[in-house]
Amino acid sequence: MSTVQIGVIGTGSISSLHLDAYKNNKEAHIYAVCDLNEERARAAAEKYGAEKVYTDYRELLADPVVQAVSICTWNNTHAEISIAAVEAGKHVLVEKPLCRTVEEALNVQRAVEASGKILQVGFVRRYDTNAQLLKSLANEGEFGEIYYAKATAIRRLGNPGGWFSDIERSGGGPLIDIGVHVIDLCWYMMGRPKPVSVSANTYRKLGNRSNVEHLSFYQAADYDASKNTIEDMANAMIRFENGASLMVDASFTLHAKKDEMFVRLYGDKGGMEIDPETVIVTEKNNTIVNILPQTDHAGFHFQSAFQNEINHFIENVQNGTKPLSPVEDGVEIMKILCGIYESAASGQEVKL
Ligand SMILES: NC(=O)c1ccc[n+]([C@@H]2O[C@H](COP(=O)([O-])OP(=O)(O)OC[C@H]3O[C@@H](n4cnc5c(N)ncnc54)[C@H](O)[C@@H]3O)[C@@H](O)[C@H]2O)c1
Repeated sequence: MSTVQIGVIGTGSISSLHLDAYKNNKEAHIYAVCDLNEERARAAAEKYGAEKVYTDYRELLADPVVQAVSICTWNNTHAEISIAAVEAGKHVLVEKPLCRTVEEALNVQRAVEASGKILQVGFVRRYDTNAQLLKSLANEGEFGEIYYAKATAIRRLGNPGGWFSDIERSGGGPLIDIGVHVIDLCWYMMGRPKPVSVSANTYRKLGNRSNVEHLSFYQAADYDASKNTIEDMANAMIRFENGASLMVDASFTLHAKKDEMFVRLYGDKGGMEIDPETVIVTEKNNTIVNILPQTDHAGFHFQSAFQNEINHFIENVQNGTKPLSPVEDGVEIMKILCGIYESAASGQEVKL
């Protein structure tokens, strides 16, 4: 099979995880990169050996050599670039969140379906080896019916600034940026039940706390703390058609003692923890037992999860197979995220 010619659009902070993984994949060739910031694009091209450098994604998409693209740009451009890419005949791996609104998500879905091209959503947490192990156990019925999940993505200090904190470009704050990962992971593990309602709150109490010293955190490539129009934190209760429920919270800043990331799911035959460490909880001979699977990494491992995600994308492009995280899942997650913001704004439960 011939090597897949790749274009990476957006060469900021997260792009290096995509580029490293493409570089490691023998079936992929990094052919082109693109960024509004030419210097940044040139630096990436030099580091990864890309032949072509673009500052306008439309020109990259018009290049007939490019077969597939990673979209690693601001959230407000995901829908526009995804649609243009599939219409130009390219396969797409788009970073999470799929976009900012349900309307945008449905437009992307329509364009993907009309094009027959692959669009894989970058729900990287699904591609972690431990998540896949737990998913295979869930599929075999190890946990029975999963009826409750609880997830937390709390940063005590970690507003990445720049476009992340400009609601026009991001579509929202910690909920849409990091909450999305844990919501998606729970929903995927639960077997993708249909969400029916959401009751949620968002808070803007602390601002971005850019005054705080001596603690470092993830920052946008163009870090700027002067503008902040997003929530500090969000919490939500999501109900599903099958009676299952998910409680979640996410923050960029909170007076918490430390950062906290956990993902826990509970079924009628057993339970699991995915974060911060993989644990299976079950009952044997009238005794509760906690099982610690022995895998390379006890918890989520960023590099290998990205490698698995990129390898899967390349395989899908080569074989025409459906991604583990297809466009319709991106749409469903956008319905949940937007429902949460709507419920918080209205102070009411929202039916989805
Ligand atoms: N999967 C993950 O764990 C993860 C982690 C961080 C970020 N992300 C996602 O990746 C995306 C990028 O985030 P980041 O942290 O790299 O941001 P960043 O600000 O560091 O980089 C974004 C880059 O995109 C460029 N850009 C914006 N619009 C463009 C356009 N129209 N054409 C070309 N270039 C454009 C910017 O100039 C910038 O260099 C976001 O959607 C974010 O949600 C995912």
